[in-house]
Order: sequence, then C-alpha cells, then structure tokens
Amino acid sequence: MNMTTQYWKLSTNATEHDQAIREAAGLLHQQQVVAFPTETVYGLGADATNEVAVQRIFEAKGRPADNPLIVHVADKSQVEGLVTETPPIARKLMDNFWPGPLTLILPSNGTAASNVTAGLPTIAIRMPDHTVALSLLTAAGRPLAAPSANRSGRPSPTEAVHVSQDLDGRIAGIVDGGPTGVGVESTVLDCTAEIPMILRPGGVTKEDLQPFIPTIIIDPALADQETKPKSPGMKYTHYAPEAPLWLVDGDREFFQNQLNQLKATDQRVGVIASSELAAELDHNRVLTCGSKQDLTEVAGNLYGALRQFKKSDVDVILCETFPEHGVGAAIMNRLTKAAVQKVSQ
Ligand code: TXA
Ligand code: MG
Repeated sequence: MNMTTQYWKLSTNATEHDQAIREAAGLLHQQQVVAFPTETVYGLGADATNEVAVQRIFEAKGRPADNPLIVHVADKSQVEGLVTETPPIARKLMDNFWPGPLTLILPSNGTAASNVTAGLPTIAIRMPDHTVALSLLTAAGRPLAAPSANRSGRPSPTEAVHVSQDLDGRIAGIVDGGPTGVGVESTVLDCTAEIPMILRPGGVTKEDLQPFIPTIIIDPALADQETKPKSPGMKYTHYAPEAPLWLVDGDREFFQNQLNQLKATDQRVGVIASSELAAELDHNRVLTCGSKQDLTEVAGNLYGALRQFKKSDVDVILCETFPEHGVGAAIMNRLTKAAVQKVSQ
C-alpha cells in the first residue's frame, strides 16, 4: 500500500473550506477512505453502504475483520434507513445527546455493508458534534463508517499530525480541522436489550446518562479481564505507546520511589502526570496532561501524551492513575488497556 495522501488544511476562508470538503467527498464517492476530525478523535471515513470502500478502512488500519465500525450520520433522520426499529429510549437519547459523543447500538436492517457490522445483527451509529465532520457527511450524502484514524493498537489521533504518523501513504486523504476537543472516543451504549448497557465508557458519562436511564448498567467485562466483552473491539490491545506503560497507583512518595528504582537500573523513564503530581516530582522527563481537578482537560491531552514519548527517548513510561468519576471512567479504561502492568501501593 503506497499512495499519495492528499492533505487539506482547512482555512477560515469559506470558499477554500468548501472546496476542500468537496474534494474530500469526491474521494469518498470513489470508494476511497479519508480521515476527518470529530469532537472526540479523528475518524477514518468510508461510504458505509459500500463494501469495497469499507474494506479499505480495515486494510489501512490493519484492523481485525471481526471488529465492527461506527456509522456516522449527518442527521437523526438517516438512522431510520439503517435500523429495523428505534426503541423509544434510543430516540430520547438522540434528542438529548446528539450531535455528541454517544454511539447507540441498534438492530441493523442490513443496509450498511456487511463488513461494517462484522456480520452482527446490530449496528453502531452516532452523529458527531463537529462542523467539519457534519459538512463532510452532508457533502458525501450518505452515512460514513469511521473508526478512529490510527493504526490498530496505537493511541487514537487527536490531531491531524497523529493521523499522518500512522496512515500517510495508506489512505487517500486527511482533512486537517485542528485538534479535537473531547480527546477520548464516544461512549458506546447498547440499546437492543431491555436495559441499556454501556459497552465502552467515553465522552458522555454515566452521570450524564443517569437521568434518562435510572437503571443503567455497565458491561461487567469492563471491570473483569476474564469475561468476554459485549463490544468486540474491547478485547483487543489498544492505545499502546512506543515504550511500555506502567500505571502507578499510589501517593507522591510511592510514585517517586518507583521512579528512583527504575532510574537506578539505568532505565530512561518518561512520566505522564497531573500538574499536581508533576509539581512535586523530582525528575526531568515529565509530561503534564492537566489538573486532577479537571478530568476534561486530562481526557483532551491523554492520547497526545501517549504518543509523545518515543522509544528512542525512553525505555519505560510511568503514568499516574485518575479518579473514575465522570470522564475519568473513560480515561482509566484507556490507560488500563494501554498499560503492560499496574503497580499499586
Ligand atoms: O468517538 C468515536 O467513537 C470515534 C470517532 C471517530 O467517531 N470512533 C471510534 O471508533 O472510536 P472505533 O472503531 O475505534 O471504536 C468502535 C467501537 C469498537 O469497540 C467496536 O467493537 C464497537 O465500537 N462496536 C461497533 N459496532 C458494534 C456493535 N454492533 N456491537 C457492539 N460494539 C460495536
Ligand atoms: Mg479505535
């Protein structure tokens, strides 16, 4: 796979902006794949109704074929063309959270290409809250299947440069709309059972959903390594930085001790920490991802931080743990998957 990847840096000039979106949509019509920004992470889009186009997503990412994709829509009305029915709870959630980082699993009517759903009877759908994503979806005039625009196993891209790092020469185009906002992916919620179940924590938190779904449940597999997750993608290794990541769960002194022990064996250690911990550590390679008091900020910086340490610079990365409320649930879910081990006090 070696093609020239077209790159559009979106300008504030409306004519240039529209021209770029038109060209990108043109490539999508030719069964090509194009990366674009959403409010969560960059997505790698292809015509969701075209099996050949969708196959190109799997090839570019090196994604296992049994891991289904999220279909993105420009409008709630597009959902009806993809599902056999929309349960009342799903409609209520769309009205309250769309556009936004909430993906709903619904019964598929088979309109999407079979590789989008990996042969499942259900389909994942969301409407992104990003003007570039929405204008591309509108220009394409059809739903777009779009997983995160990273090579399989790597941290998801929150800037166009992350997409180039992973996929340059492997995809037809990249629409650069600047950094994304939320920083972690959408929440995946299964609405096909009596009681909706969170299959992947994400940008819309359990606390956000609770007023609408008082008895919300979370896939038990998320807390237990032995149980098979309901979302196929959750079983794979994910978000891995170049150097092995250790999660360090303890106070400042415990963290500093772990750090000192590694340094004593001549290992080059990178640290990812909150601004609070960073201020107290004695070390020269510390990346700050935000305040512990502001998990939204941490989520926004997390994947960028995971990509920043290169294996040429560090042998191991130590990262602190974060509270699991709000978007902290998504942060800790991703960090736990990215880590090779967790050391606790
Ligand atoms: O924020 C996001 O959701 C981003 C942006 C680009 O929209 N997309 C994203 O896609 O994170 P991806 O492919 O990296 O993650 C999709 C997740 C996977 O865990 C997959 O297994 C799950 O959604 N999924 C897709 N279809 C499903 C289905 N029918 N049933 C259960 N899980 C499904
Ligand atoms: Mg992904």
